Amino acid sequence: MKIDVALNPAEIARLHRRDLSRTTCVVFDILRATSSMITALAHHARRIHPVCTIEEARQLRVEMPHALLGGERHGELIHGFDVGNSPFEYRDMAGQTIITTTTNGTVALRACENAASVLVGALLNLSALAEEIRWHEPEELLLVCAGTFEEFALEDAYAAGLLIEALPHHALSDSAHAALAITKLFPTALAALREARNGKTLAANGRGKEVDWCAQVSQFNVVGIMEQSVIRPIKD
Ligand code: MLT
Repeated sequence: MKIDVALNPAEIARLHRRDLSRTTCVVFDILRATSSMITALAHHARRIHPVCTIEEARQLRVEMPHALLGGERHGELIHGFDVGNSPFEYRDMAGQTIITTTTNGTVALRACENAASVLVGALLNLSALAEEIRWHEPEELLLVCAGTFEEFALEDAYAAGLLIEALPHHALSDSAHAALAITKLFPTALAALREARNGKTLAANGRGKEVDWCAQVSQFNVVGIMEQSVIRPIKD
């Protein structure tokens, strides 16, 4: 299995040019989009619709009036939406359908649409992710680090490195080696997330407990898979 890592949004914006037909993509947006999605699925949310814009979210809600509108811009609740992007808002979701749009995470997911398979990656479900990938052993694995605005996000690369460490890997790209090396810089996931720019920003805004939540490794045995732009759970 060849493992590659897209480390930043600029690489993600070019994914439509790549042949991903033999590739499984795992999208990481640890603070907080994919952590909130995994939290929702672990609490029995039925479906999650990731979209790129607020307008798309509102239009989809017209078609699905019972769905919850979620997500963020600049880390905060979007006007008129039901929930923001704190993982704590996704712990009472049994049977819910969620439409969500975030700054980077949903954009990164939708950029992988032409891949053979797209999985939602978080520290929260790391072991379940590794087990799923070991089971299917795709020819190519691309770990997609969503980043923040136009920038690289340390926490996403750290999570990608932990997943690489948990997998039998035959061939690592330079960026995969880099992600693996990042995991050696921190004693724990919490240390990495607290050092990350996004972790510091969230803590400064009174959201430090959300960082702690997102730093829990392998807390949930759930994997989210995105098919036809809809995320559903494949493990419980
Ligand atoms: C993102 O998608 O860019 C982040 O998850 C934003 C956030 O949750 O603050």
